[in-house]
Amino acid sequence: MKSRRNFVKKFTAGLTVPILPYKSFNTIENYSLSRSPEQFWKAVRASFPLQKSRVYFNNGTFGPSPYPVLETINEQLKDFNTRGEYGSTKKTRKKIAEYVKVKPEEISLTHNTTEGINIVTWGLDLKKGDEVIISKQEHVGNALPWLNRAKLHGIVLKPFEPGKTAEENLAIIESMITAKTRVIAIPHITCTTGLVLPIKQICSLARNKNIFTAIDGAHGSGTFDLDLKELGCDTYATSCHKWMLGPNGTGFLYIKEEHLDRVQAYWVGGYTDTGWDLYATPPTINGYVPTAHRYDYGSQNAAVYAGVDSAIDFMMNIGQKNIEARVKELASYLQNSLLELDSKVEMLTPTENESRISMTGFRLKNMDYLEFNKYASQNDFRIRVVPESGLNSIRISTHIYNNKEEIDRFVDLVKNT
Ligand SMILES: Cc1ncc(COP(=O)(O)O)c(C=O)c1O
Repeated sequence: MKSRRNFVKKFTAGLTVPILPYKSFNTIENYSLSRSPEQFWKAVRASFPLQKSRVYFNNGTFGPSPYPVLETINEQLKDFNTRGEYGSTKKTRKKIAEYVKVKPEEISLTHNTTEGINIVTWGLDLKKGDEVIISKQEHVGNALPWLNRAKLHGIVLKPFEPGKTAEENLAIIESMITAKTRVIAIPHITCTTGLVLPIKQICSLARNKNIFTAIDGAHGSGTFDLDLKELGCDTYATSCHKWMLGPNGTGFLYIKEEHLDRVQAYWVGGYTDTGWDLYATPPTINGYVPTAHRYDYGSQNAAVYAGVDSAIDFMMNIGQKNIEARVKELASYLQNSLLELDSKVEMLTPTENESRISMTGFRLKNMDYLEFNKYASQNDFRIRVVPESGLNSIRISTHIYNNKEEIDRFVDLVKNT
């Protein structure tokens, strides 16, 4: 009983309205990951309201939340609307900072990855002719902001075709650097094939040449046990609504403290400033708050950010290292099973251990990718197709609520093509 109480306390810490534990969620406590892993992961699966009849393999687009997250949002909305308060996001900044091992002052709360990328893209002082290295397999969220600056301000984008190994990718990026390179703006994990780029080595290379690193981390948070200081990037933009399993419309941007004044805040308002005066001549803004809070402003939906707190609690309770290992185990299991179907499958995701993690991309030799999508959907699989970069391929995301039996069923489907 005592441990149950502690458990409830842990998941409700800081909330003004106590939440009741979900029966299904409580079962996690009854299983040991080391003694009975399959039972443990089954209990994790039971913490999600996901339909049992449909196999969800599209976490790379949207990560469904577990019950405690939904409950927290619900309770917080009720609380704010009954007491007439709108809450605070202070706790969320602190919790995110702990989760990715940086300072709360380096975290700006955003609504998605794209917003974080835009803050950096527009905030950097770049001039006509300055070069930005980017991959040819970007999501629109990292492509368009940079393309827009190229269109409006004449910066020059230098796109590269990613390779299959960490060593190759590091060498490609090194070969792209010129005296005019100002920024390397690349994804941690590509949205197309799930390729993991060697960000730590790339950032180290960039640092030595005084090049800014702006990482699109859409698929990094909630997948890796991230230590952003160790990774060494200058900025990292991500979403909480993907692999962190948080509420839709939440994200964060990490900006290294020393760059706060280098990345100019353009969209400003309440909480951005240290004072302003319309009676002065001329009217003035005194300055910006000495934290990354300067980039997010005005009223926020504190209830959904409380949902982010709850998602982080959920992940930490399982253990982010355990999650990383499980996600990799499932994706490797799928990839290895597909690799055995040599006559049917062309694998696009690298097989090198350090260059893959959570998403598997492939083409079918005997079926068009859109036709296969229809076929998979008719068989109750939710997958994603990848028309990006002309790949015309299939992408499967596997997260902690998936299991090997679902993967086996999917592989059987591929065998029928
Ligand atoms: C690599 C990558 N970057 C950016 C985004 C954009 O994310 P959001 O829609 O949360 O802004 C995505 C979305 O899937 C993505 O895969």
